[in-house]
Amino acid sequence: MLALRRQVARAGAGSLTRTLPVGTFLRRKFSTAATDWTEQAVYSPTRTHVDDAYTLPGSVYSDEVFHGLETQRVWHSSWVCVAELADMSNSGDVIPGDVAGTPILLANDGGHVRAFRNDGGAFDEMRGVFEGPLSDVTQVQVKRQLSDVSKQMSELTPLRVGSAMGLVFVNVNGEAPTLTEWLGDLVPWLTDYEEALKAGELIATHRTSYDIKANWKLLIENFLEYYHLPAVHPALCNVSGVDEHQRYQGKGMYMGFATHPLTVGGTAIDPGRLPPFPSVGAHRHKSAYHISIFPNVFFSLYPEAFFRVRLSQSSPGRTLEHATLQTHAAALEAPNASAILQEIFAFWDNVNTEDILICENVQEGTKSLGYNRGRFSFRFEEPLHRFQNMVVDKMLCEDETRYRIPEGDEETTFLDLSAQTSVSKPKESTVAVAQRARAAVMSS
Ligand SMILES: [Fe+2]
Repeated sequence: MLALRRQVARAGAGSLTRTLPVGTFLRRKFSTAATDWTEQAVYSPTRTHVDDAYTLPGSVYSDEVFHGLETQRVWHSSWVCVAELADMSNSGDVIPGDVAGTPILLANDGGHVRAFRNDGGAFDEMRGVFEGPLSDVTQVQVKRQLSDVSKQMSELTPLRVGSAMGLVFVNVNGEAPTLTEWLGDLVPWLTDYEEALKAGELIATHRTSYDIKANWKLLIENFLEYYHLPAVHPALCNVSGVDEHQRYQGKGMYMGFATHPLTVGGTAIDPGRLPPFPSVGAHRHKSAYHISIFPNVFFSLYPEAFFRVRLSQSSPGRTLEHATLQTHAAALEAPNASAILQEIFAFWDNVNTEDILICENVQEGTKSLGYNRGRFSFRFEEPLHRFQNMVVDKMLCEDETRYRIPEGDEETTFLDLSAQTSVSKPKESTVAVAQRARAAVMSS
């Protein structure tokens, strides 16, 4: 993300030669030939090691042809997050959903989650409500109760569905690896959180939606780098400082890192204001886990409450975010819990709004004549590089990569909190890393 901002800023200053040779830039920028998004060569600058790689072209955030292919090759072939499990916890609950413009229905059928295409006429009333101003409607607001799910859904086409970490996922084309394979080592790594996230143990206290004028990938990429925190979220740095961020990346269709230790900085989300999730071990009480599951959900797990964001999209330049603040029963019984949770929600709402404003600006920046691709910061943007390569794996639609589950890092600076082991190598200070990154980019 910052690579994009950096390159857009440079383009504005007329310093194009830092990005690509001028001749190459002019040929690409003013060529009348449409990009063939199925060609390997389009993506080759992104397919190299992060030290040398360039980001995807700026047009992937606004090109209609790319968007059409992306809908089929990325969204329909993935396990897409479509709901919070807690929002359909009672048998007979039916809520609407959406996978890149494909309307679906989700149902709790005697304790089993089921999913269906909603492309018939059986549930026009529900679908009609959902197709209104989506930014003003949550799934809970249009939830229905059916006495016999199997019978009433019998004419609809079933879809592959699964759940993990309190989230419901749907695979539209039915060809993805199992959801367990998709998530890799994520659930085993956070197994005590998984206990807390099971249906019925999570309580959503606040929900909101955001209607955003930016491509969905920009919102994911913004979440995946954290060195914009001091400039964009100074208050967040008081509890989750940049220097306290620890990188961890295992095998799976996700990007992950953590903050340890969380610090008490007088913010609404300081640790200790509410009791932690009962199932979460004491060694996690001063840690936050930042996770984005490919393609469309991200969240930060804090010890006592967290704010999850799920994305849906139907056009290149517009994304809807569905956000939920969740906690647990013991937290609700704490003194002044209602006011504290309102403060926590307001804090996250503000952070998310700050991110949205940046992404909307970057969306415009990527259309600039002066922007084509940016460089990755080799230390901070490994998650972003991983994400973009997942997109490319699917866009190329090649047998060997389309359903590839990427491995994790061979080496990590992350303190393995669950095993209480020490770091595998000394952590470099953020200032030193930033200086090294700046020097590398300026010499490129
Ligand atoms: Fe941010």
